Amino acid sequence: DTGLVTLDSGFGNTAAYKSAITYLDGEQGILRYRGYPIEQVAERGSFLETAYLLINGELPTVDELAVFQNEITQHTLLHEDVKRFYDGFPRDAHPMAMLSSVVSALSTFYQDSHNPFSEEQRHISTVRLLAKLPTIAAYAYKKAMGHPIVYPRNDLGYVENFLRMTFSVPAQDYELDPVVVNALDKLLILHADHEQNCSTSTVRLVGSSQANLFASISAGINALWGPLHGGANQAVLEMLEGIKRDGGDVDSFIRKVKDKEDGVKLMGFGHRVYKSFDPRAQIIKAAAHDVLSALGKSDELLDIALKLEEHALADSYFVERKLYPNVDFYTGLIYRAMGFPTTMFTVLFALGRLPGWIAHWHEMIKEPGSRIGRPRQVYTGVELREYVPVEAR
Ligand code: SDX
Repeated sequence: DTGLVTLDSGFGNTAAYKSAITYLDGEQGILRYRGYPIEQVAERGSFLETAYLLINGELPTVDELAVFQNEITQHTLLHEDVKRFYDGFPRDAHPMAMLSSVVSALSTFYQDSHNPFSEEQRHISTVRLLAKLPTIAAYAYKKAMGHPIVYPRNDLGYVENFLRMTFSVPAQDYELDPVVVNALDKLLILHADHEQNCSTSTVRLVGSSQANLFASISAGINALWGPLHGGANQAVLEMLEGIKRDGGDVDSFIRKVKDKEDGVKLMGFGHRVYKSFDPRAQIIKAAAHDVLSALGKSDELLDIALKLEEHALADSYFVERKLYPNVDFYTGLIYRAMGFPTTMFTVLFALGRLPGWIAHWHEMIKEPGSRIGRPRQVYTGVELREYVPVEAR
């Protein structure tokens, strides 16, 4: 009755959530959003259609999509007082810290403390978050660059608005390149949900205490930031740049990983669920080639990444441990070609994952008899003993 079922995971019963949103099969490399294969959604859909599908359970009709898009467009602006939060951040503040802080602060502007979970409040909070996160993200980039912020425009689509708010400067408006717009829209789709990953389970656990949606999403942003999770896309670029500095010697890097030197890992490889391949990584790898060539950019780091993947997949250390490229291995190369600094890579992951977090929050709130999350533990500490006064210790 808590939305939990117990699965015999071979290590005794493991509590698991029930969810109807996303289906994963780690052995077959299958990922489906509400039953639709990720390959079809990424190829045929748009990010806003995907957000609607994950949150509402069905693909929108033409009219439903138009209403959804228009609602979001009407809420892209941030309250002018929110801009002052950015004045307080240090110049080199990580954008993920700004993102989680500002999202949490939105509850001071919008959370109806009287009836936070009414259908109407849940809907408008969903619209506000989807609409404002790109603005919050773009403002974080402008803070880091020392550039003036650029306001959203209602005549632009979701991804176009974000790109223009991010890269336009007073002296030069950003020229929207369809290659970049389409590639970023596809990348956001590929990141939109992934069942009970660390950040989504965080959103569900925080939301289960009946904390509001802004607070729950802010917690998810913080969980995503970790380098073992969404922070991996930034860590992959830093890893590739390190190998490049060492003359592109992937084999000596692989030796360090196998020797577990300083706990170094092959970032962008491995997955708790996927033990054959991550279907998203395959789509993104192809997109990396397409985007770089369409933008007329070559990137030595792509050559290093391809060589690293080829050598790792031929090495028993990785094959035995079923370590394959995950969603984070190639994304950073595309983001870099688009002009984003590495510190913005995980922010882009958060923009994509937002509709998944929101969908799981709604599902958990609506679950009949849903109760506060309370993981159990196996106590491994000291048995009962008498307290000793400090003089006698
Ligand atoms: C994401 O859960 C999701 O769905 C996440 C995500 C999503 O969409 O939400 O898919 C997004 O977070 C992808 C993962 C991004 N993280 C990274 O790329 C960081 C590098 N990867 C690893 O840290 C690791 O693979 C994890 C965290 C992704 C998974 O860790 P697990 O399942 O707990 O595996 P493990 O740490 O128990 O590793 C098993 C073995 C260990 O070796 P041994 O102790 O048996 O000798 O494999 C080794 C690990 O040392 N190993 C790696 C490795 N990943 C695991 N060795 C080198 N490089 C790696 N990347």
